[in-house]
Amino acid sequence: MIIAPSLLAADFTRLGKEAGRAQRSGADWLHLDIMDGQFVPNISFGSAVVAAVRPHAKNLFFDVHLMCGKPEILLEPFAKAGADQIIIHAELDEQVLPLIWKIKNLGKKVGLAVNPPTAITAALPFLEKIDLLLVMTVNPGFGGQSFIHECLPKIQQADAWRRGKKLNYRLEVDGGINNATVAECARAGADTFVAGTALFSQRNMGAAIKKMRKAAHDHDPAFADLKV
Ligand code: DX5
Ligand code: ZN
Repeated sequence: MIIAPSLLAADFTRLGKEAGRAQRSGADWLHLDIMDGQFVPNISFGSAVVAAVRPHAKNLFFDVHLMCGKPEILLEPFAKAGADQIIIHAELDEQVLPLIWKIKNLGKKVGLAVNPPTAITAALPFLEKIDLLLVMTVNPGFGGQSFIHECLPKIQQADAWRRGKKLNYRLEVDGGINNATVAECARAGADTFVAGTALFSQRNMGAAIKKMRKAAHDHDPAFADLKV
């Protein structure tokens, strides 16, 4: 189970230190939300910020979430800035396949995100080509929103495809994740959990990550069988 704090909820006056805090607190990944003010109604930060933060969290896997209308011009700058994985959105339709190959050619892992209003079947043509499928559990653009429970069946479907087709993409959720919703998502089949407010708002982020990881493990269907 992967816990990925989202830097969008960090103290923006000290992003490097906050990334270092996440690493010291036992995070597995750092989730970096890139918003262009066009694909989503908000602007966050660019590749220069990611490059500046990178040395402060050398051991974390950088999970770069591109909520951008023209990602093709951004792939190389974020790859150079230290991204380990680049996530693009299925809503980009015919752009998706060329983008997947461009990300692979940059030697990075590929993630595909699906927004709440979008049917999970939008991901079907790409399942064999991706390393991670992200089921958004809020409408993208802001942190601190409430979890959309109607997204849970999409997680179950994505997990069923993964088992049925013997694929091993990770199943990530993002938006409104806390200890209660992490349990529901783990039970549905998710194994990678992005959390902004629930982690960066905590003075003792280490304890918060431990608690969230335990909540995920305790509701992991694979472990549920072991418990009986
Ligand atoms: C929203 C972003 C999320 C967000 C999560 O568009 O993709 O990563 O930062 O923040 P919380 O956990 O506060 O909902
Ligand atoms: Zn995100």
